[in-house]
Amino acid sequence: MPAAGKKTVEDIDLQDSRVLVRVDFNVPMSPDGHAISDDSRIRAALPTIEYLRDRGCRVMLCSHMGRPEGEVDPNLRMAPVRERLSELLGAEVVDGRGPAGKVPGLVMDGLEAGDVALLENLRFNKREERNDLGFARKLASLADIYVNDAFGTAHRAHASTEGVASHLPAVAGLLMARELEMLGSCLESPDNPVVAVIGGAKVSDKIAVLSHLASKVDTVLVGGGMVTAFLAAAGHMDANPEDFAEIEVARSLLKDSEARILIPTDVVTASEFTEDAEPITSSLSGIAEGSLVLDIGPDTSTSYADVISKAKTVIWNGPMGVFEWSSFAAGTIAVAHAIAANADCVSVVGGGSTAEAVGSLGLRDQITHVSTGGGASLEFLEGKTLPGVAALMDEANEIPQSTD
Ligand code: 3PG
Repeated sequence: MPAAGKKTVEDIDLQDSRVLVRVDFNVPMSPDGHAISDDSRIRAALPTIEYLRDRGCRVMLCSHMGRPEGEVDPNLRMAPVRERLSELLGAEVVDGRGPAGKVPGLVMDGLEAGDVALLENLRFNKREERNDLGFARKLASLADIYVNDAFGTAHRAHASTEGVASHLPAVAGLLMARELEMLGSCLESPDNPVVAVIGGAKVSDKIAVLSHLASKVDTVLVGGGMVTAFLAAAGHMDANPEDFAEIEVARSLLKDSEARILIPTDVVTASEFTEDAEPITSSLSGIAEGSLVLDIGPDTSTSYADVISKAKTVIWNGPMGVFEWSSFAAGTIAVAHAIAANADCVSVVGGGSTAEAVGSLGLRDQITHVSTGGGASLEFLEGKTLPGVAALMDEANEIPQSTD
């Protein structure tokens, strides 16, 4: 699979190599830190791991979990991930220990062809996030080849995502390649019409993606907390002076965008931001003063679903309302079902809360691609270069015979 001009595991002779694989096993855990509440990121890395095992590689996996900021946090150990991965592979995943020190090298030396080990949480060492040269070299010393399959962390320039790539032949894994191919093609060579559905809490969080997509797609459907700024910009709600900057951004997008930007024609509001607040469905002229917009309304859901049903490509990032609370979930559910029902379109869902919404509705299989990256997919859709991708070898480059 092409990967935005980058070499992948399929372009390199890996037979019997020692391979360091950066994965993103930053999975959600139960509050006691013992149970994994969603193993999608572990499952998503399986094709690359199996590909390497099939070629007799000795595989050292590495990942971060959470943000321990250079300290050892017992609730953020990789042990539960190692256990789950062992179950999924049907083979014991060895504790690689570390992430620095002598032990990981000894563990790698002890692996046999097809064996897999997993290092301890990379962020237990503060040199990881500093992209420390010595730490990157230490990681590189474990292997002959570096594979980055951690699309979800590709927006971070850390030792394991960026630094290490200068010391070894560095290629994309199969998941990374698919992410780059799917997200890239829906922006660069999509079938038209292309519809972007953009939600999320604040315009300021999504301004870059809104601006970038507005120059690429045919229609943008606006939902989420941003609706307030857009309704104020269009004169349907009183502007809160605190939100002045966001409203200005919404106004200029409505005025100057090349894309058609659709905003809700009705909304679900509440008088307070609580799960049991009474949901009130209002037309735009009936929004009570001081109320909070917590979802798009039913008419809007119907019209958005109609636009989605005619699309050939759909890019979705951000829930339409407070999806976690049932009274304010209907808009997100309607959009998710509309995308899933359009079997004729290529649909790409950005990670994070949008992926959670699709997963909890059991619709993952009806979406062409659900990204494993939250922040990473957002930055990709903003048109930014991801350091973890930039560091990989270009497709056109020769594989160096030996490095370091
Ligand atoms: C994510 O979950 O978005 C990635 O694993 C990156 O995590 P970070 O935001 O802590 O760098």
